[in-house]
Amino acid sequence: MREQSLFSWSNRVFRRSVIALALFTVSMILVGFVWLPSVHEDFTVQGLWAGLCRAAGVPAQWGSGARTEEEGASSKVVLVPSMARVGTSAAVGRGATLALNCTMCHGVRGMSVSNSPNLAGQYPEVVIKQLEDYRSGHRSSPIMEAIVNALSEQDVRDLAAYYAFLPKARTAPTLYDETLPALVRVGDPLRNIAPCISCHGGVDQKLGAPWLEGMPKQYLVDQLNAFANGTRRNDPGAQMRNMVREMTAAEIDEVATFYARKASSGEPGAAP
Ligand code: HEC
Ligand code: HEC
Repeated sequence: MREQSLFSWSNRVFRRSVIALALFTVSMILVGFVWLPSVHEDFTVQGLWAGLCRAAGVPAQWGSGARTEEEGASSKVVLVPSMARVGTSAAVGRGATLALNCTMCHGVRGMSVSNSPNLAGQYPEVVIKQLEDYRSGHRSSPIMEAIVNALSEQDVRDLAAYYAFLPKARTAPTLYDETLPALVRVGDPLRNIAPCISCHGGVDQKLGAPWLEGMPKQYLVDQLNAFANGTRRNDPGAQMRNMVREMTAAEIDEVATFYARKASSGEPGAAP
């Protein structure tokens, strides 16, 4: 009789155990990758490949499904340092012509005589961001939305260059050693209020933080209240909303009064 190897296909026991193992493996794959996932509430049938990927913890489609713009983001504008660059004189010239449509409210040479914000000397990235936010509806104002819809992106940049070129209401930012309201100078760490001068000039100007010095007081109060009650939501990371919500009406009035104060003598345009 021929000696039969234990691991030969002609060995009945071996043949059966291989077949049994194969059947067992296939059924376990079905259980593990198809049946078990399907009884999970969030299961959606996407084929065996997706099932395998899910079980192994790898994405079925690399790269796709990357998170695009977040729902409810404060703005569509991505602030980049180049937006703060000084415009060319050609851009300033084109901006000056376009700005003839703005003087009625923002004043001749950007100094408002009503409660519209001053634009004179405003940082260019601020003008660009705010106008684009009105365009996309991230900041609402029926007047400004209508106006910006008639402007191209290039117009917006030229207007920003023109206004940045005009002299500011106050030429110097608030300095730390002046007698400033506490919130302006040091904020209130216990309430997570950072000092205004750490973003709005004086100690530092953060990209996108507007020049506030000399703004009409009512405009400042209105904007702070709009942040507090959420009607204005275009501040990145809700930085203004979070701080203003912690402030009392008296504090809002105090900081607005402070920033709206008239230029002291010695500065260009100051009352004698
Ligand atoms: C009919 C009046 C009116 C006209 C005309 C007008 N604006 Fe305005 N603008 C306003 C008012 C009011 C606001 C404040 C709205 C708000 O509360 O958001 C404003 C806000 C702005 C802001 C935001 C400023 C900031 O500090 O946040 C910019 C930038 C601006 N306007 C640019 C322009 C430009 C550029 C033009 C001309 C092409 C123009 N506006 C024409 C009334 C006007
Ligand atoms: C962490 C930085 C930061 C601090 C601190 C800060 N701000 Fe702001 N603030 C901003 C930025 C950024 C914006 C512009 C938001 C946007 O893109 O619309 C802004 C906008 C504003 C505006 C609207 C101005 C306009 O023309 O649209 C006012 C008013 C204002 N801040 C007042 C204050 C006051 C008052 C304080 C101090 C109590 C303060 N901010 C502290 C970053 C800051």
